[in-house]
This record gives sequence, structure tokens and C-alpha cells, in this order.
Amino acid sequence: MQGFEFNTVGRLVNGSGSALELAGECRRLDVKRPMLVTDPGLVSIGLVQPVIQALEEQGLAVTVFDQVKEDPPEAVILAAAELGRSRDIDGVIAVGGGSSMDVAKVVAVLLGGDQQLGEMYGVGMVTGARLPLLLVPTTAGTGSEVTPVAVVTTGETTKAGISSPVLLPDVAVLDADLTLGLPPMVTAMTGVDAMVHAIEAYTSRHQKNPLSDMLARQALELLARNIRVAVHDGQDRQARENMLLGACLAGQAFANAPVAAVHALAYPLGGHYHIPHGLSNSLVLPQVLEFNAPQACVLYAELAELVIGESVEGSVESKTEALISALRQLINDVSLPDTLELAGVEEGDLEMLAEDAMLQQRLLVNNPRDVAYDDALAIYRAAYRGAA
Ligand SMILES: NC(=O)c1ccc[n+]([C@@H]2O[C@H](COP(=O)([O-])OP(=O)(O)OC[C@H]3O[C@@H](n4cnc5c(N)ncnc54)[C@H](O)[C@@H]3O)[C@@H](O)[C@H]2O)c1
Ligand SMILES: [Fe+2]
Repeated sequence: MQGFEFNTVGRLVNGSGSALELAGECRRLDVKRPMLVTDPGLVSIGLVQPVIQALEEQGLAVTVFDQVKEDPPEAVILAAAELGRSRDIDGVIAVGGGSSMDVAKVVAVLLGGDQQLGEMYGVGMVTGARLPLLLVPTTAGTGSEVTPVAVVTTGETTKAGISSPVLLPDVAVLDADLTLGLPPMVTAMTGVDAMVHAIEAYTSRHQKNPLSDMLARQALELLARNIRVAVHDGQDRQARENMLLGACLAGQAFANAPVAAVHALAYPLGGHYHIPHGLSNSLVLPQVLEFNAPQACVLYAELAELVIGESVEGSVESKTEALISALRQLINDVSLPDTLELAGVEEGDLEMLAEDAMLQQRLLVNNPRDVAYDDALAIYRAAYRGAA
């Protein structure tokens, strides 16, 4: 067996109502003056107030930063860090989706040492320590609560990643109650994102490993079996628990066996059209899998029955076809648009998008099949009008 490394969060707490027990987690970490990072949407629906109240009732002095924007720009991170510094905080808690969790991660590093934000981008560039960090996801998608990554919007259309084991939190808290009110569209988009994390981890070219494989398979099964219920009956607690756990397991998988061409082709769609991350992935998923099939069909065949929910007979090629058509069906069942055209992409932009996708070499190197410019363009063209 090829050697491998596997890093994940040191402590994971999973359970209904566990977000209301954060004070105990803070005590374990000797945190007395935490900053809670969240977004205004979550405040307006009343999701975070009970969490803040429970912390305060236990004697913690909570500073709230609730100005996180989706796909957070640097300015938001710097504003949060400034507030935290002025209040002399000694720990950072995120309650929110990937955007809030990523802001919290970077703020914890900025306030734990003296490194500037601009010096952190890339892999392994973070130096020094961070403040104690507690992450509580409210979407079942990014898996950011267990990844060593923060994604920051750095320009008009560009995002940059900070990847360092320092960004793994001290504790990830999974409380599915927080996801009960997640709107159907967000549930669908973030859920498909998590499925893509599992699929791409399973076929990752260089760092595929037995632990990520195990997690990816379990994640994909949980996500595929529960996404329809979670989208159509958001109050189904069991489905929500399974989605949150599935997204977390997929996050652990791809944190150690990185994602590839689906994400590489999705990023330019987010950058140029502000299409949400999960939807961008969904829009190119079937076409990238079709492109990869000649190299990856043995592995895709292994995933087919996890998505389909029953055993599939036939060759690896026919199992791969069955997987791709099951994913197309799933995307339709959760009411996501299934062509770039429907998502508002201009046909005349496809070349530009393909050029941009080529810049994502960090991801493309993980793809089971090499992707050249012409391939990326052909994939976007196929995704433009969808299935023939
Ligand atoms: N760090 C990582 O490993 C990683 C991985 C993938 C993506 N990302 C990043 O994460 C971000 C996307 O995160 P996301 O998809 O979780 O969404 P998000 O955090 O951007 O939130 C999306 C929207 O959903 C709303 N929302 C969140 N939870 C809700 C709830 N329980 N009820 C009602 N509304 C709710 C928010 O208010 C917001 O308006 C992007 O910036 C992406 O680049 C990070
Ligand atoms: Fe993703």
C-alpha cells in the first residue's frame, strides 16, 4: 500500500442541541471571551441568538461579529479581526455556513500571531499559532468544520485558498437542529457540493487513501439517501442529521484526498456569475464524470450502488453510466437547474471560462484524467445545453 497521511479535527461532537452546550467546549479550551462569527441572514431568522444566550448564561463574555458575506472578501475578515482585537477576545466560534467558518478560521490565525493575511495564501504558508477555534456548521455542504482550508474572495472574480493544518479547529460541533430551517434551494446546492466532495475524494489521483475512501463511501450513501427528503421536507430531523454527518464525513475525505476537475470548472462559474458554489459544481458534475469515465470507471462503478440504493449489474462502463444518470435524476429531483444556459451563463463566455478553469492547476492535478483547455471547453459546451 502507498504511504499516506491523514489529518482531521481533534474533537467532534454530534447531537441535537449540542450547539447550546458550547460553553462547556469553551471551558475545556480555557476560552472566556469568545467572538462569535456569523452572517446577518442567520441573525434575522433568530438562529444564533439561543446559542449566544446559552454562552452568556454560562458566564462567557461574547463579542458578536455578524457581518459575514457569502464568498467572504478580505475586507470582512479584516473587519472581524479588528473587532476581535479591540475586545481582546481569547477564542473564535463560527455559527454558519462555509463563509462564516472560513472567516472565523482566518481571524483565529490573525489574532493568534502576527502574520499578515496576504502572507497566508497557498499551501502550508501559515506560520505561528491561532486562538482556540470552534466551528458549528449550519449548512450540510462545505465540510469546512473539518478541513484545513479557508476560501477567500480576493478580487472581483477570483478566490484564493489558505491551506494549513493550523486551520483545523479544536472542535467541530454538529447540531442538525440548526439546519432545520435551511431553505430547499440552499439544502439542494450545498448537499450536491458535499456529494461532489465525496466523489472527487474517491477518485483523487495522488492522495487517495483508505480512510478517505471509507469516509467518502459512507458520506455519499448518507447524502444520496437523504437529500431528497431534506429538500422537500426540511423539518425531517433524521434526514437533516444524516445530511450534516454526510457533509462532515465528505469534508474529512476531501481534506486528505483533494477535489479535482468538477471543482476546477465550477470556480470560474462562481467567479464570473456569482453562481453559488454547490450549484456551480452541480452544473458540470455529469459532464466531468462522462469525461473522466475512460480513466475512472472502475472507481465510479464502485460508487454506483451507493447513489442508486440497490445493486447494479453489468460492466464497469454500464455501472458508470448508471451512476451518471442517477446523479442527473437526483439533480432534477432536488429542482436545481441542469444547464449552464438555465443558470444564466452566456454561450459566448465559454472560452473565457475554459481559460480560467485552466488556472486551477492546484485542483486539476488531482483529476483522474488530464484536462487540457480543449477538454474544459468541450465540457462547458456539453453542460451548456445539458443532456442530448
Ligand atoms: N473551507 C472549506 O473547506 C470550503 C470548502 C468548500 C467551500 N468553501 C467556501 O464556503 C462558502 C460557501 O459556504 P456555504 O455553501 O456553506 O454557504 P454560506 O455560508 O455562504 O451561506 C449561504 C447562505 O445560506 C444561509 N444559511 C446558512 N445556514 C442557514 C440555515 N441553517 N438556515 C437558513 N439559512 C442559512 C446564509 O445566511 C447564507 O445566506 C464559499 O465561500 C466557499 O468558497 C469552503
Ligand atoms: Fe465544494
